[in-house]
This record gives sequence, C-alpha cells and structure tokens, in this order.
Amino acid sequence: MQNTALITGASAGIGRELAIIHAEKGGDLVVVARRQEQLEDLKAELESRHGIKVRVLVFDLTDRGAPSAVYQQLKDEDIEIEILINNAGFGGVGKFHQRDWNEDLAMIHLNVLALTELTRLFLPDMITRRSGKILNVSSTASLMPGPLQAVYFATKAFVTSLSNALAYELRGTGVTVSALLPGATGTEFARVSGMERSPLFQKTASARRVAEEGYNGMLSGRLNIISGLSLWQRFRLAFVPLLPKSIVMSEVKKLQQTR
Ligand SMILES: NC(=O)c1ccc[n+]([C@@H]2O[C@H](COP(=O)([O-])OP(=O)(O)OC[C@H]3O[C@@H](n4cnc5c(N)ncnc54)[C@H](OP(=O)(O)O)[C@@H]3O)[C@@H](O)[C@H]2O)c1
Repeated sequence: MQNTALITGASAGIGRELAIIHAEKGGDLVVVARRQEQLEDLKAELESRHGIKVRVLVFDLTDRGAPSAVYQQLKDEDIEIEILINNAGFGGVGKFHQRDWNEDLAMIHLNVLALTELTRLFLPDMITRRSGKILNVSSTASLMPGPLQAVYFATKAFVTSLSNALAYELRGTGVTVSALLPGATGTEFARVSGMERSPLFQKTASARRVAEEGYNGMLSGRLNIISGLSLWQRFRLAFVPLLPKSIVMSEVKKLQQTR
C-alpha cells in the first residue's frame, strides 16, 4: 500500500468524505469503525472507482485495547501509515449530573483516549521516516465551555490543545499535526448526540465541504482549520475570547437546548 491514510470513523459523515477525498487523490486507505457493512461498501466503491487499496478494520475504539490492536495489526501486515486522521467521535446533550455516566465515559474513551493513544502509537514511526501528517478532528466547541454538553466540549478542548502543542513540539521533524474545528455539519452526529432538534443543527454545512477544507488544511500543515461556519458565525466566534465567560456560556446553552 502507498501514501496510506488511516481514518477512524470512516463509515459515515466527515470521516467517510475524508476517505473519498483521499481515494480521489490516489492514496490507499485503512478505514476503522464499528459498522462493517458500511466500511465494506465504501471499500468496494473506492477500489472500483479509483483503483486504490482499502483495508477495513472493524473496531470499537472505546475498547481499551483497540488502538494498540489496530497498530499491531498494521505492523503485522507491513502497512505504513503516512496520514493519521483521528475523526471518530460523538457528543451527548443533557445536564452532566443527569446524563448516563457510561455514555460520557465512552465519549471520553473515544474522543480523548483513543485519539491520544493512536497518535502516540503512530507518531514515532513518522518521526523516524521524517514524514507524516496527523489530522485530529476537534470542533469549534473546543474554543469555549459547553453547558448542557459539558463533557463533549471538554473532550474537544483537549483535542485542540493536544494537537496544537504537538504541532509545536514537532517543528522541523517533517511531521505536522493539524486540528479540524467544524461547526454544525450535516452528518449522523446530531442524531447520535440527541441534538437533531436543537437550534444549532437547523442549518448545517455539508460534510464534503468540511472534509475538503480539513484535508487541504492538513496537506498545507495548518495548525487549526475552522470550517463550515457562516460569515455571521465566524464573526461571533471571533468575539468569544473577548467576552465574559458567563455571556458566552449563556449563548452556548441556548444553542444546545432542544426545541
Ligand atoms: N457533525 C458536526 O456537527 C460536528 C461538529 C464538530 C465536530 N464534529 C466531529 O467530527 C467527527 C466526525 O463526526 P461526524 O459529524 O462525521 O459524525 P457521524 O456521522 O456520527 O460519524 C461518526 C463516525 O465515528 C464512528 N464511531 C463512533 N463511535 C465509534 C466507536 N466507538 N468506535 C469506532 N468508531 C466509532 C462512527 O462509525 P460506527 O458507528 O460505524 O462505529 C462514524 O463513522 C467527530 O469527532 C465529531 O465530534 C462533528
């Protein structure tokens, strides 16, 4: 396999679009998610349309041993990862003390631990080769606290912070780390997170647009790629660091509430 990208959460949404874009550019793929059928359909489509190779790995990345099993499997098969895209993630709405703890724990496992461990596993090989790119899918949620999605916003704050610090540490190594910060995007995310009826998801960016901006930003080694926002949303986001936290959180809370 060559110019291989490993993409987590490639069975749907932004991850699926990222896989399609990489295939269109002629790169091979390793796609990871829980739903085998969706991954096999994607493999068949991309292999026949673009003449590339796709390796399907079915894993639940909330399982503690999953990231190391993914890494070992690819080592055993001699598959070198040039691009690592940590995309799999989910959110969940509700008051922290009332939410199902196991669901929040799984969210932390997927959004934080799996992403961090996969980065830790694949990075040394990239540094040795002096070549590699990592794209961590964060969120504009990472830029503020999120009442009614407290854990999700906190997981994404971790992702952006980790990605930015690593990008700086890795200067001059030939390896780049970028964070993709989408706004509300039309994927399965809103349904999975129980937010289909929230004001935030009444108007969404397309997954293709967000994936394209993320992929191109990663190729040019950008630190943070904010994507999928309207001009008005970009304008409002620019004021977040300047406003008192209580005002920001009151606005964020209104956006999470279901109608
Ligand atoms: N959509 C938005 O508005 C939005 C905004 C900002 C950031 N994001 C971020 O963008 C990323 C992609 O989300 P999306 O919007 O494309 O959502 P999506 O359509 O729900 O896709 C999520 C992907 O993650 C995979 N996944 C979920 N749980 C998993 C697990 N336990 N193990 C392995 N894979 C798992 C899913 O596959 P399986 O179900 O097959 O496992 C699916 O492929 C996430 O990190 C999300 O936080 C989304």
